[in-house]
Amino acid sequence: MSHEFHFYVYGLSHQHSDRCCRLGASKTHHEIDPYAEDRPMVNNYRLLVSGIAPRPIGFISTVSGDGKTENLAPFSYFQVVDHDPPMFIVGFSSRPGAVKDTYRNLKETGECVINTVSEGMIEAVNATSIDAPYGVSEWEVSGLGKASSSTVKAARVKESVFSVEGKVVDIKEFEAHKPGMSSPAVVLIQATRFWVQEGAVDEEFSHIDLEKLRPVAQLGGISYGRISSTFERPRKKWEDEVGKSDLLTELERRNNRSS
Ligand SMILES: Cc1cc2nc3c(=O)[nH]c(=O)nc-3n(C[C@H](O)[C@H](O)[C@H](O)COP(=O)(O)O)c2cc1C
Repeated sequence: MSHEFHFYVYGLSHQHSDRCCRLGASKTHHEIDPYAEDRPMVNNYRLLVSGIAPRPIGFISTVSGDGKTENLAPFSYFQVVDHDPPMFIVGFSSRPGAVKDTYRNLKETGECVINTVSEGMIEAVNATSIDAPYGVSEWEVSGLGKASSSTVKAARVKESVFSVEGKVVDIKEFEAHKPGMSSPAVVLIQATRFWVQEGAVDEEFSHIDLEKLRPVAQLGGISYGRISSTFERPRKKWEDEVGKSDLLTELERRNNRSS
């Protein structure tokens, strides 16, 4: 049995109390009601963006319903949520006044391009988050290059290592927590095309080189992070490991007895 597997399987509290303490299990936790009357919503925002980190940034390109205006803006309430079919989720926060242009465009046209953000792009990306009036294109603010797409009207960002054309498959809108605020919403997007920068992907177009992608992660507040080291952990299969571990054998025995 490898040392790593021993550590992983035996549970920190059984045999490794020193590790257990270092990982924080001996500390107590504060309970927070996110909806408590005296809790300002901004505290939830700050807690969530600092605690759920890092988050990838989806740099989303859309076109208005009348086809007249192009829009580009970053979103870190964003994630790939499946690969079969390839699906993505984006969250739009409530704000005073009208909904965000990206959300309006997604509702009106049902399509977009999700572009990745590499380290060298962050100034341009941040510039596009300005609250430009509806009708003003952030492409010009960013100075980034446009490339045409195949399955949607919105353009791709040329500088992005990876871009995903996609169509909206579902929208869930919530009630704003105060009058005068726009409705928050989450949008589910299914990919219709992938684009990967030359030199950044293997021959099978199945693996993107992290050194080329150099993804920027959003952290709390206005902090960002870069990935400066990585490590790998193999995933275990129960049937391969059960015979090597007394704990797994015991758990299997108990499970068989109770079923
Ligand atoms: C890195 C970054 C991430 C952001 N993530 C989100 C997000 O997930 N949801 C959101 O509603 N706004 C987010 N914003 C703010 C929007 O980008 C900003 O409101 C922008 O003006 C929206 O543009 P639009 O109205 O053209 O869609 C983020 C801003 C930055 C700089």
